Amino acid sequence: MKTIGILTSGGDSPGMNAAIRAVVRSAVYYDMKVYGIKRGYEGLIDGEIEELNVASVSDILHRGGTVLRTARSKRYMTPEGIRKACEMLETFQIEGLVIIGGDGSFRGGFELAKRGISVMGLPGTIDNDLAYTDFTIGFDTAVNTVLSAISNIRDTSSSHERTTVIEVMGRHCGDIALYSGLAGGAEFILVPEEKSDLKALCRKILQGRNRGKLHSIIVKAEGVEITSQELADYIEEHTGLETKIVVLGYIQRGGSPTARDRVLASRMGYKAVELLKNDSDSKAIGISGDEIVACALEEAIDIPKCYDRNILRLADVLSI
Ligand code: F6P
Repeated sequence: MKTIGILTSGGDSPGMNAAIRAVVRSAVYYDMKVYGIKRGYEGLIDGEIEELNVASVSDILHRGGTVLRTARSKRYMTPEGIRKACEMLETFQIEGLVIIGGDGSFRGGFELAKRGISVMGLPGTIDNDLAYTDFTIGFDTAVNTVLSAISNIRDTSSSHERTTVIEVMGRHCGDIALYSGLAGGAEFILVPEEKSDLKALCRKILQGRNRGKLHSIIVKAEGVEITSQELADYIEEHTGLETKIVVLGYIQRGGSPTARDRVLASRMGYKAVELLKNDSDSKAIGISGDEIVACALEEAIDIPKCYDRNILRLADVLSI
């Protein structure tokens, strides 16, 4: 394979730039031509495509966001959009495409794979919601961002003897809440995968108070049914303790990627190019243990994500 393209799609995540750099530099190393496609599938439809070289990806390794920019393309979801995208790939003679994004982006990639393009999916999302890989690019950075917020909030919560509900992202997946909650010593973690036991939550807050705890930190994933306001109201009503809400929002999606995310992105980007160089079928690149792995793209889309119940249990044990 001689000519490949790369795009980022869906919500951005820290480490996407490290992945772009790895793909471009590996392609150049193997004498392949590489095109950068701007604004995800939107830019593919509109032909916002330009050749990238070694210098195009200088000084981006440490930057959050994506220099290719990203979009959630509605037009691409139509047969007309897909037809136009295929035409563009043909015009630029792009035979292989690296797509960095989440499950929606992979589904979009599969449409191209069905039409003969070799598609490599790199899991770029803070949510860690793709079951075929242990970790996605950006998850570790997002967890560390949440952790730093928890530390700050803990200080002020102690001073004021408050309970604080911290709402984190993750869509339908509780992993950001689970990992940041365990690492941050949260008194209680609520994830969408598990029915929330609000009575147990209030009991735990009161037990902590009775043995002298000054604050309580509750980490709640955004996908949990109850809203943060409803939860705070419930806690106040059932414990009599002042309860504040912090919705962390998009701060979790930005920032310089951690070493772990940069290494993951670099290894996965290189693997994608190696596979394309060898004319592989469409694949999703992941990590299993410490090994970079690849599975059929359509399989990666279909595997249902299971969360690690043991982490929730551990967090509960350690926060007595
Ligand atoms: O998929 C990443 C994510 O940040 C989710 O955690 C969140 O639910 C969603 O994207 C927000 O999407 P948008 O950028 O469209 O508001």
